[in-house]
Order: sequence, then C-alpha cells, then structure tokens
Amino acid sequence: MTGGLGYIGSHACVALAQKAIPFVIVDNLANSSLGVIDRLAELVGYRPPFVEGDIRDGDLLVETMERHAIGAVMHFAGSKAVGESVAMPLDYYVNNVAGSLTLFAAMVRTGVKTLIFSSSATIYAQTNAMPLAEHAALGASNPYGRTKLFVEQILFDLSVSDPAWSIACLRYFNPVGAHPSGLIGESPRGTPNNLVPYIAQVAVGRREYLSVFGGDYETEDGTGVRDYVHVLDVAEGHVMALDYLRRHAGCVAVNLGTGRGMSVLDMLHEYERASGRSIAYEVTGRRPGDVARCWAQVSLARDLFGWQATREVEQMCQDSWRWQLANPDGYA
Ligand code: NAD
Ligand code: WQD
Repeated sequence: MTGGLGYIGSHACVALAQKAIPFVIVDNLANSSLGVIDRLAELVGYRPPFVEGDIRDGDLLVETMERHAIGAVMHFAGSKAVGESVAMPLDYYVNNVAGSLTLFAAMVRTGVKTLIFSSSATIYAQTNAMPLAEHAALGASNPYGRTKLFVEQILFDLSVSDPAWSIACLRYFNPVGAHPSGLIGESPRGTPNNLVPYIAQVAVGRREYLSVFGGDYETEDGTGVRDYVHVLDVAEGHVMALDYLRRHAGCVAVNLGTGRGMSVLDMLHEYERASGRSIAYEVTGRRPGDVARCWAQVSLARDLFGWQATREVEQMCQDSWRWQLANPDGYA
C-alpha cells in the first residue's frame, strides 16, 4: 500500500486488517507522521510492516514487493492540495504522475498486475448534470485534477496493452470523518483546505470562524453542495474492490460517494449537533474553481463490488469530532 500512513490509507489499513488481509505500507512521510503506526498497532493488534520510502524509487518498490510477495497494490500516495498544485504544477506532475509511472513500472518488473488507484470526483467536467455517473464527461480544471485524470488514462492504456491487469480507479467524492475509536483521523498540516477539518478546528477552538466560500450559488441555501462520505466507508470500498479485482480483469472507474448532497451550512449545523458547540461563520466570496453542486451516482459500486456507503452524516461529524477532541493538534 503506497501512502498508507495518510488519512484514507490509514483507514484502509484497518479495513484490511479486519478482513485478515496482510499488507505492507510504503510512505515517505511527506504528509503523515510515524505516530500513525502506533495508533494502527493499537487498533489492529500488531505493528503493520512499514517501509519508509518514496514511490519515485523504483528499486525500493521492486525490492519491497519481492521481499513481501506482494499480490496487489493500493496506491494512495500523492499530493492533494488544489491551490498548491496551481502554484507548483511540476511538483504535482512529478509526484502524482511520474511517481505513479515508477510504481506501475515496478509492478510490471515484479509481475504484480492488480491495482487500486485513488482517483477523485474532481476529474469530472464542470458542465455535467447531477448525479455524476462514471460515463459523464471528464475534464479537470487544475493541475492536481489533471494528474488524476492523466493517471486514469494511463491505466486504461495499460489494461488495453495487457489484459492480465485488473485495475480499479476509485473516484472518491468528499471523504470525511475518522475511525470511531478516535485513534486515527485527518491531521492536516497548516491551515486546512477542506471544509470538515476546518469546521473541526473552529469547534475545538483552534480557529475563530469558518469562512463560507460563497452564499449565492444556485442551491437551496446558496452555499456549495457536496457528497460527503465516511472515510471508513471509503476504506471498506477498497477491500470490496480488491475482492472484485481478484475475479475480474480490465480497468474500471467507479465512484465512491453516498449519492446525497449536503450544503456547507448543512454540514456546519450537523457538526454543531455532534459537538454540542456553536460554530461561528462568515459568508465570504466564492473560492475560485469551486462548483455549486457535486454528488455521485452510486449504482456502479453496488453492482460491481456490492459496496454502498452505510454511515450517515451524523456519524461522519460525530467521529470527526471524537478524533478532533482527543487530538486537538492532530498527530503533531
Ligand atoms: P494524505 O496526504 O493524507 O495521504 C497521502 C500519503 O501519501 C501521505 O501519508 C504522504 O506522506 C504519502 N506520500 C505522498 N507522496 C509520496 C511519495 N512520493 N512516496 C511515498 N509516499 C508519499 O491524503 P489522503 O487524503 O489520504 O488521500 C489519499 C489519496 O486519495 C491521494 O492520492 C489523494 O489525491 C486521493 N484523494 C483524496 C481525497 C480527499 O478528499 N482526501 C479525495 C479524492 C482523492
Ligand atoms: C467543500 C465545500 C467549499 C472550506 C476538494 C478538492 C477535491 C477533493 C476533495 C481530492 C465547498 C466549502 C470549504 C472552507 C468553505 N480532493 N468550503 N470553507 O472543494 O469539494 O473538493 O477536496 O481529490 O479535489 O477540490 O472539498 O472540503 O474543500 O469544500 O466554505 O474553509 O465547502 O467552497 O463548497 P471540494 P472542500
């Protein structure tokens, strides 16, 4: 598993351990901390094998895959901040695209041809009607999104070139929440870019108020609407996708979302209920590049993997809050 110490990867570790599926984590700690391993050990009852290293180091990947007799790869590693990708496009193309290419080449060298790739709803064109089905038009509007789109396209080409590949590109909508133990969760460095971590930091007193980016969208309350999905549902989706890939060759792209949209203010009020605290906010201008509405059509994940999101937004906020309260500074 690449990027297994990160937010989504660490939850996937727990989901794999729950099914007694062994795994090895490769992570360069660019956006995570070693403390995650202690937490995982507490949660799953053993210290998961960890290799500190970079996905751009092909020899290290080959050696790790051979030494651990790896049969499949979950590829979470990458950089994910949209604004940063606009400022530093080359870094994003190198880490997300060149890094992925190095990984795929290492998989070819070791004969590992089963892969789950962390894709994103951000690759859908902004002109589509809701809900977004997997066959909707694609088109990313920033370098980060383009890295995801390019890698998906590379993977489709790869599967055409060699039918022995089994690949799932999982297009996450908005993963939020944390493990209900409060032991692992999202630990953003610096100012959070995403809504729920920001709300969590206001609730816990680290920040004064939430800036609501736009109150004049064509939505019920004027604020942006998104498909928030519990990170453990997303993690479990990977285990179910892996099971599917063991029986099916080819390359599929599949949405992981709930199929329901929630506005910024819906989320804020839900978080107030979960935390029992009032959360100050101020409506400001729109954030460049944001869409008004975005939610998934979710039937394909159900039809192929037998997966559907099971956790409600109430639990997303409760679990996020439990994590935030127990770890006000994240893993730091
Ligand atoms: P994260 O930053 O918490 O986790 C990514 C992990 O990859 C980190 O632990 C980081 O240290 C590691 N990493 C980065 N570059 C690496 C490299 N070159 N070599 C080895 N390790 C490296 O992010 P996340 O939220 O867990 O996201 C996981 C994946 O899912 C990413 O690819 C992201 O683009 C994608 N994704 C995330 C979201 C979201 O909202 N969180 C939505 C859609 C897609
Ligand atoms: C959600 C809503 C904001 C912060 C981003 C990436 C996407 C994907 C997920 C990786 C929007 C509003 C937010 C704040 C706000 N990541 N908001 N105040 O924009 O749907 O997607 O993360 O693939 O690529 O673009 O998620 O959590 O940033 O925003 O009002 O301080 O909250 O405008 O309506 P988004 P988000």
